Amino acid sequence: MKGIVLAGGKATRLSPLTLVTNKHLLPVYNKPVIYYAIEKLVAAGIDRIMIVTSPHHLDDFVQLLGSGQNFTSIKTNKQIQIVYGIQNEASGIADGLYIAKDYIGNDNCLLYLGDNIIEDDIGNHIKNFKSGALIFLKKVTDPKRFGVASLNKKGMVVEIEEKPKKPKSNLAVVGLYVYDNSVFNKMIGQPKSNRGEYEITYLNNKYIEEKKLKAIILKEKWFDIGTFDSLIEASIYKKQQSKKNG
Ligand code: G1P
Repeated sequence: MKGIVLAGGKATRLSPLTLVTNKHLLPVYNKPVIYYAIEKLVAAGIDRIMIVTSPHHLDDFVQLLGSGQNFTSIKTNKQIQIVYGIQNEASGIADGLYIAKDYIGNDNCLLYLGDNIIEDDIGNHIKNFKSGALIFLKKVTDPKRFGVASLNKKGMVVEIEEKPKKPKSNLAVVGLYVYDNSVFNKMIGQPKSNRGEYEITYLNNKYIEEKKLKAIILKEKWFDIGTFDSLIEASIYKKQQSKKNG
């Protein structure tokens, strides 16, 4: 399975921090935000990763991550491979995924939103993935900010709504998605949403229609680094964790 880390966007909510840099390069405690994403993928056994970002800060990502020389594959004990994809316009998460289509080839893929910090261990879920789609959910107090999943009595996801005004549950869809290769066919004819983006929620709902979407509820901490508060909360949490682990 190959990984795709999305690291584009304007991050206007973090202005002026993001006036001259990209949010994924900002520090969370002692590392840039994107390090946490790459470390999560590497720990799950993924050692071929495409970073998709805008042309504005591509050089900075290359300076920081190079070809992956700072990360070691748990499978080969050699450096991982990092390559880059360019998203010219912020046209949504599904659009970012499409940029990696040729890189993914016939493989399955793990799509990770580079501003998410996930504390659960996802290694076994990735190892056991065969086909369909796998998403991760987390109970939140402010679901309106996210994709929100509705579950039936059996605990199956029946619908995902993107930033609903009246959320049907408090289960947010986390920025980590595992797809089989049919995800690219599901994009054919995909319309843009009201906010002018190719939404990932559209693709997840296609998998739900086919009864091929599985969801795991995360137990540990989850941060979506989009606001000043989440940036500082994640930093404090990571500092505490690092002191705990010596
Ligand atoms: C995106 C997704 C949303 C998901 C969130 C997680 O939102 O569209 O479904 O819950 O990431 O971070 P965005 O960050 O584009 O507002």
